Amino acid sequence: MPSLDFADRVAIVTGAGSGIGRAVARALADAGAQVLGVGRRRLALESTAAGSDRIAPHAADITAPGAAQEIVTAAVERWGRLDVVVNNAGATRLLPLAEITPADLGLLWDLNVTAPSLLAQAALPHLRRTRGSIVNVSSTYGHRPIAGAGHYAASKAAVEHLTRSWAVELAPDGIRVNCLAPGPTESEALAAAGLSGDVIERVKADEARRIPLGRRGDPAEVAAWILRLAEPATTWLTGQVLTMDGGLELV
Ligand SMILES: NC(=O)c1ccc[n+]([C@@H]2O[C@H](COP(=O)([O-])OP(=O)(O)OC[C@H]3O[C@@H](n4cnc5c(N)ncnc54)[C@H](OP(=O)(O)O)[C@@H]3O)[C@@H](O)[C@H]2O)c1
Repeated sequence: MPSLDFADRVAIVTGAGSGIGRAVARALADAGAQVLGVGRRRLALESTAAGSDRIAPHAADITAPGAAQEIVTAAVERWGRLDVVVNNAGATRLLPLAEITPADLGLLWDLNVTAPSLLAQAALPHLRRTRGSIVNVSSTYGHRPIAGAGHYAASKAAVEHLTRSWAVELAPDGIRVNCLAPGPTESEALAAAGLSGDVIERVKADEARRIPLGRRGDPAEVAAWILRLAEPATTWLTGQVLTMDGGLELV
């Protein structure tokens, strides 16, 4: 494969302060892009950007009213264009049906579905100009059932279906829309879901045991394929969901 080339391109990456988003921001910067790294914790974003003059930390809650437009404006005012949006920020919630509340479902949906939709919408005029691309981040469980986290899985199924629908809707504008569905990957996701250290270790061991390739993923290996989906040289791929999970979806 030719090496990745994002020279003179501008990208927004949400959830850039940890895990997969941090790896994507760094890989994009290494490939020549200017990157607006978005997340709520400024310190985490600064640590992602450390040592790179191509990553600009941008502290924002993507679920806040007006956030999408404000984030896009920040990137375009800074660099004059926008080529790539990586809708990576998201959260897992263990919510068995017996325990759901309207408030919990609202928070989950706002973060995993509504916020990426509004960011893509705010980016549209600029992506039309550059014939850019959007990469959404789903999960193996966006197309597999999971007991105890059905609404998380449903939110990711929504992301996958939005990917296919937007791909058709935006193709006349030359905008490509694809999706990366990772399996269990090292990140802060389990801690952010509120699990204790003991439970996290048990979950990780169980996941590694169930994954055919015998281990959890590394954020850098997921990031590499997010870049492949996004890169300008990938000209004829749209509406696709690429699962990268060591084979978990097959068993
Ligand atoms: N790791 C896995 O096993 C796995 C598997 C399947 C899918 N995924 C998906 O991969 C994506 C990345 O997750 P990850 O695993 O890298 O987990 P992570 O380390 O928890 O990263 C999620 C990032 O999203 C940011 N974020 C959360 N809420 C936000 C908000 N309201 N506004 C702005 N930023 C927000 C967080 O930063 P702040 O807290 O600073 O805002 C954090 O940096 C998610 O969509 C996740 O569902 C992960």
